[in-house]
Amino acid sequence: MATRRIAEILKHGQPDETATIKGWVRTKRELKNFAFSEINDGSSLAGLQVVLDADLPNYDTILKQLATGAAVEVTGTLVESPGKGQKIELKANSVTVYGEADPETYPLQKKRHSFEFLRTISHLRSRTNTLGAVFRVRNACANAIHQFFQERHFLWIHSPIITASDCEGAGELFTVTNLNLKDVPKTESGEVDYTQDFFGKPAYLTVSGQLQAEVMALAFQNVYTFGPTFRAENSNTSRHLAEFWMVEPEMAFCDLEGDQNLAEEFLKYIFKYVLDNCPEDMEFFNKWVDKTLLAKAENIINSEFERVTYTEAVALLEKAKKKFEFPVSWGIDLQSEHERYLAEELFHKPAIITNYPKEIKAFYMRLDDDEKTVAAMDVIAPGIGEIIGGSQREERLDILEKRIAEANIIADDLWWYLDLRRYGSVPHAGFGLGFERLVQFMTGMTNIRDVIPFPRTPLNADF
Ligand code: 4AD
Ligand code: MG
Repeated sequence: MATRRIAEILKHGQPDETATIKGWVRTKRELKNFAFSEINDGSSLAGLQVVLDADLPNYDTILKQLATGAAVEVTGTLVESPGKGQKIELKANSVTVYGEADPETYPLQKKRHSFEFLRTISHLRSRTNTLGAVFRVRNACANAIHQFFQERHFLWIHSPIITASDCEGAGELFTVTNLNLKDVPKTESGEVDYTQDFFGKPAYLTVSGQLQAEVMALAFQNVYTFGPTFRAENSNTSRHLAEFWMVEPEMAFCDLEGDQNLAEEFLKYIFKYVLDNCPEDMEFFNKWVDKTLLAKAENIINSEFERVTYTEAVALLEKAKKKFEFPVSWGIDLQSEHERYLAEELFHKPAIITNYPKEIKAFYMRLDDDEKTVAAMDVIAPGIGEIIGGSQREERLDILEKRIAEANIIADDLWWYLDLRRYGSVPHAGFGLGFERLVQFMTGMTNIRDVIPFPRTPLNADF
């Protein structure tokens, strides 16, 4: 018989139907002539209650094997559940235990474990309620992202993971090499001789697919990337990973305003999609992780994002009664405490901050007419801070060349990027959404390490 998903049985299962399920034992309760066991197959937060009667063949052996964590297949008949908490349960006719789990050593016994502890067993933690819900919501977010862009005819393009350019110019690159590190070839002047390396020059893991997305946008108008990016940022915070996923739309014939409009529409769409498609998981987070989560989600869907320039934001921060760790003045890069004050305490909703000083932003952002600021935008969210960073790109060759020189970037390496400004240049804009920060925002999870299955952070690449 075909296996049924527990999520489907809980929704549509009717008494007297026969059903086979496969999953892992969460709990077992033995009574006098029968036993209950809750089985979870990952399809939903709730498991299915299985009833085992003492007249089941091999009852005693099976009961012993049905410890928390064991993998089982159960075939039986659905019956209305007399107990509270569930409508339907499965009366077992046959049980197959695939893999047992020793109760003495299986680390996930029925109690609440700290997230710190669960990170040390990342190979098992997805079997818990919270991480299970996180990864279902993560999947729904990914699906919503593709659906949003595909409905709007954006082409999903695949930017390279290995690249020779530092898009953000922040020097947070992981080098990709196959040189023998015990005997590195050197040039006459004592530098590493990359001509002998695999690519014949220095190569890195990408920090952003943007530059390549720009190439593709200038052929297809609207494109997006969705893939892993890497940053050797030595910051051990609850919002930074060394390997994270980024979504980067890029639009030709688009300016900063169009970019902001897309970012706002995009976030609202994803929230609505997840509320519609993962109601149980979202209610779980609202109950156990952040009691204001659903209200916040509704607020995001229904409110207009605040839009202020950097200059206006600085003025608001200077007026704030609050004492910040990093003092505020025009020209500083906004710190997380500033972003969070604006989003959480002042606006009570996401905000888009635009037109930052050129000195604190990347070389590719379009210079504003005042020549002091650039057409940048950051979307900041309550509880998270920066969730999206984007800009209108500099499409004018002469100005871009000047900005590259100012940033001390070697223009020769970017000849192809400059060519886009020589041949059919056009105003264009895009942004990058940090996918894990989105999942944090969506679920209320406070640590970014708990929204990606296998987090990579300084000194940690286990599993
Ligand atoms: O603001 P960032 O650095 O922007 C870019 O990389 C642009 N090239 C994007 C573009 O315009 N196409 O990064 C974009 C987003 C941030 O807003 C943040 O959400 C996330 O990526 N991010 C990180 N997420 C987790 N860990 C890190 N170390 C992150 N660094 C950035
Ligand atoms: Mg940024």
